[in-house]
Amino acid sequence: MNENNPIGVFDSGIGGLTVAKAIRSLLPNEGLLYFGDTKHLPYGEKSVHAVQEFSKNIAFFLKQKNCKMIVIACNTASSLAYETIKNECPNIEIVNVIDPIVKHITNNIDKKIIGVIGTKGTINSNVYPQKIKSINHKISVKSLATPLLAVMIEEGFFNDKISQAIVHNYLKDPALEGIDKLILACTHYPLIYEAIRNFYPKEIDIIDSANQVALHIKDVLIDKQLLTHQSQKHRFYVSDYTLSFERSAKFFFGEDINLEEVSSIH
Ligand code: DGL
Repeated sequence: MNENNPIGVFDSGIGGLTVAKAIRSLLPNEGLLYFGDTKHLPYGEKSVHAVQEFSKNIAFFLKQKNCKMIVIACNTASSLAYETIKNECPNIEIVNVIDPIVKHITNNIDKKIIGVIGTKGTINSNVYPQKIKSINHKISVKSLATPLLAVMIEEGFFNDKISQAIVHNYLKDPALEGIDKLILACTHYPLIYEAIRNFYPKEIDIIDSANQVALHIKDVLIDKQLLTHQSQKHRFYVSDYTLSFERSAKFFFGEDINLEEVSSIH
């Protein structure tokens, strides 16, 4: 595998750009090949089988594009399709967005109550409580599915009155009572960080996975001698082109993105 090959990053939509941005800022030479599966959004509402099929097809596409690593920048796909992708691409490094944050959380606290919000797919999979408790059984985990949030963000509602009202309505749910920390277990949610932050007093930490994932990626690339030393370009693909996706992607990623549609992904 050549060190100058791109890192493949995928999500159902724009959420994975929060991870792509963290990778770009930690590893500015790396070339990212981003894929947003806008045709099948939202993943959080789909069956396990469907998410596995979508993820498998994208992994195949990224493999064909010679990616040296695939980052599953989506909690739903990380929860439901990590093993599927590993089987599909045995010779490529596969990174999910859950393990680095679980490692970070369990290293840094004891006897705490952690809240987790994410899509129905992620929350129903129970992957966060299982992984956290298998490392530190003293931590208790309270989870809540917040299915409207990713869709609302894709529709362009972030950090305004509408998003604030929906976020507050979810967060006041008794299921999250008494938490010390909140994990944003959906890569879309850092885009509404302000609305979530406004709900809680400042003693409550709000944690997203992007920086931990980027640090983990750096370690893996160093370990496998795959870190590039020449500045590479980024490329952006979607399974269904829309102008609103292009606008939001430009806004969040902060550079002139040229989106290409890949119609062969089913
Ligand atoms: N960004 C994705 C995640 O982290 C999910 C959004 C969706 O439902 O498609 O789970």
